[in-house]
Amino acid sequence: MSERIRVWDLPTRFFHWLLVLSFAGAFFSADSERNRDLHVLFGYTILGLISFRLIWGFIGSRYARFSSFVYYPKVVYLYLCQLIQNKARHPVGHNPAGAVVIILLLLLGIASGLTGWAVYEDIGTDLLPEWHELISNAMLAVVCVHITGVLVSSFLQGENLIATMITGKKQGEANQAIVSNVSSLAWLLLAIVIALWLWAWPATKGLVWLRQMLPW
Ligand code: HEM
Repeated sequence: MSERIRVWDLPTRFFHWLLVLSFAGAFFSADSERNRDLHVLFGYTILGLISFRLIWGFIGSRYARFSSFVYYPKVVYLYLCQLIQNKARHPVGHNPAGAVVIILLLLLGIASGLTGWAVYEDIGTDLLPEWHELISNAMLAVVCVHITGVLVSSFLQGENLIATMITGKKQGEANQAIVSNVSSLAWLLLAIVIALWLWAWPATKGLVWLRQMLPW
């Protein structure tokens, strides 16, 4: 019998929303030279968060593991065909099409962070800033695909997937639920990120930036 079950552990959810914040921060601080330090801070945060997620992909709970959402291309293709025919069965974890986008986001996040770091440290060729911009714009495009995919999947599955990334709960069978929320690790992750931001905030002149961004 179908019921509300826990699917996403707390570290995965904190990772997701911290990544969203950091990506938005990096995006809005990208253009001006004055906000460079803030942009670098968000870039480092993205790299740190994705490093955590890579490890969590091996030792995390059931649906957070790569083994549950790295699919063969043929499976992705079949899923898309079934989706078009409205015959697709939606897994409790990431669906095959969404999983491809998620893996792309993680890879582009690493590539954007590393090229950004190299530009900041003045390592590499003169073309590197252009590569950094190109990769970051590609990531923005994939984020748009991701958000569209989430909205379309929510409609097709008849379940608000955005809410599931907040509560961690989805409709499913009792035996499909994850056992633990791993809350203590999630709070540790959040504390580390907040401590990093607070520590770096004065150096980034973040308050000045924030005041400029606010409409009032
Ligand atoms: C406000 C906009 C966003 C919303 C509403 C949103 C929503 C979601 C939802 C609902 C999922 C779970 C999908 C599923 O059920 O399979 C998800 C997963 C994910 N999203 Fe987003 N997302 C947003 C923005 C972003 C951004 C900006 C990034 C990257 C920069 C991102 C990266 C990811 C990743 C990596 C996952 C996989 C989570 C994991 O397993 O660790 N999302 N998102």
